[in-house]
Amino acid sequence: MALPDWALQLGYEGLDRGLIPDFIVRIAIRALLRQRLREIDHGSLEANNAAKMAWIKSVKQRTCIADVPEKSNEQHYEVSTKFILSTLGPHAKYSACLFPTGNESLEEAEILMLESYCAKAQLQDGQDVLDLGCGWGSLSLYLAQKYPKSRITGLSNSSTQKTHIDATAKLRNLTNLNIITADINTYDFPTTSRFDRIISIEMFEHMKNYQILLRKVSTWLKPGINSDSESLLFIHIFCHRSTPYHFEDTEDQDGDQSNWMAQNFFSGGTMPSHDLLLYFQDDLTLVQSWYLSGTHYSKTLEAWLKLQDQNAETGLLELQADAKAKGQDPTEGVKAFYRFRVFYMASSELFNFNGGQEWGIGHYLFKRA
Ligand SMILES: C[S@@+](CC[C@H](N)C(=O)[O-])C[C@H]1O[C@@H](n2cnc3c(N)ncnc32)[C@H](O)[C@@H]1O
Repeated sequence: MALPDWALQLGYEGLDRGLIPDFIVRIAIRALLRQRLREIDHGSLEANNAAKMAWIKSVKQRTCIADVPEKSNEQHYEVSTKFILSTLGPHAKYSACLFPTGNESLEEAEILMLESYCAKAQLQDGQDVLDLGCGWGSLSLYLAQKYPKSRITGLSNSSTQKTHIDATAKLRNLTNLNIITADINTYDFPTTSRFDRIISIEMFEHMKNYQILLRKVSTWLKPGINSDSESLLFIHIFCHRSTPYHFEDTEDQDGDQSNWMAQNFFSGGTMPSHDLLLYFQDDLTLVQSWYLSGTHYSKTLEAWLKLQDQNAETGLLELQADAKAKGQDPTEGVKAFYRFRVFYMASSELFNFNGGQEWGIGHYLFKRA
C-alpha cells in the first residue's frame, strides 16, 4: 500500500531539513530494500531468467549509450568540489574501497582497492592507460605517480572534476596525465590515441546500452601483437547478485513521485546484475570476473557519512554558497547537505543487506574478442 501524498511530502520535507532521526531513516530504507527485492522477484528461476533476457534485449535496442548525463553532473559530479572532497578520503575515491579486515582506515582502504586494480588489470610502468569516468582523479593521480613512464588519460563529463585533477597534478609535478571533459555518448578518441589498458570504475552504472558502449571502448584498445602484449579492459561496477534494473525517475502506479533515489541521485541510472556484462561480449571476451561483498562498500559509505558530519559546518556553508552561485536560494544548499546524508545512509544499508551477499561489487577483465 502506498503512503498518501501528504505523508510522503511531510517525510521528504523532514528529510530535507535533517529532522528525521537516522535510526528511523535506516528502518525505512531497509523496508524499501525488502520491497525492491519483492518487485524484482517474478516467483521462479524460469520467470526471473525470462525477465532478465527481456531487460537485456530492451537495453540493446536503445539508441544512446547513456540517458540524461547532465543530470548526474547536477546530482553529483558538478556539486561543489570542496563539499564533496570534505566527505571523501584523501585520494577522493568516489567508489567502493577495500576493507579486508574491517579495521582499515578509509585511506588504507582506498589504497588497497586502487592496488587491487593495478594487480587485476596487470598494469606496468610504460603503458598507455585510460581511466574512463575518472571522478576527482582517485585512480588517474595514483597511477600517474606510481607509473612515471606511463601516459595516463582520464575522461569524465564533469568540468569541475578536470579543474580539481589538473590543479592537484600541478601541485605534485605530474606531467604524464591528461584529463578530458567529454560525454561518452558522443566522444571518440582520434585514431592516433589507443590504450594498453582501459580501466573504468563505477561509471557503467550511469550507462544503458552496453553493446554500443563496449563496441566503442573496444576500438580504443591497441591491437595486441601477441598474448603477452594483449590490451585489456578492467571494469569495476556495483551490482545486484542476479537481477538488473533501472532507477526509474518517474511516478509510480499511484502517481506518487516516490522514487527518491532516482529523482535526487541516480536519474538515468542502472543497477547491473553481477553477470550482466557477460551478455555483451560481441567485441570483447571475458578473461576473469570477481564478486566482492557489499560490506566493503557499506564501510566506505559509513566512513564518508562520518566525514560529512565531522565537516558539517563548512560543508553546509559551502553548499549554500554553491546554491547561491548557481542562482538558487541558499536553502537549496541546506537541502543538498541533508540529501547527501540520506544518500550515503541509503547506499550503505543497500550494500550491507543480507551481509553484503545481495548487492555488492563486480570486477571484470576483458580482452579484445
Ligand atoms: C561514481 S563516479 C566514479 C569516479 C571515479 N572512477 C572514482 O572511482 O573515484 C562516475 C564517473 O563517471 C563519470 N560519468 C558519468 N556519466 C558519464 C558520461 N556520460 N560521460 C563521461 N563520463 C561520465 C562521472 O563524471 C564520474 O566521473
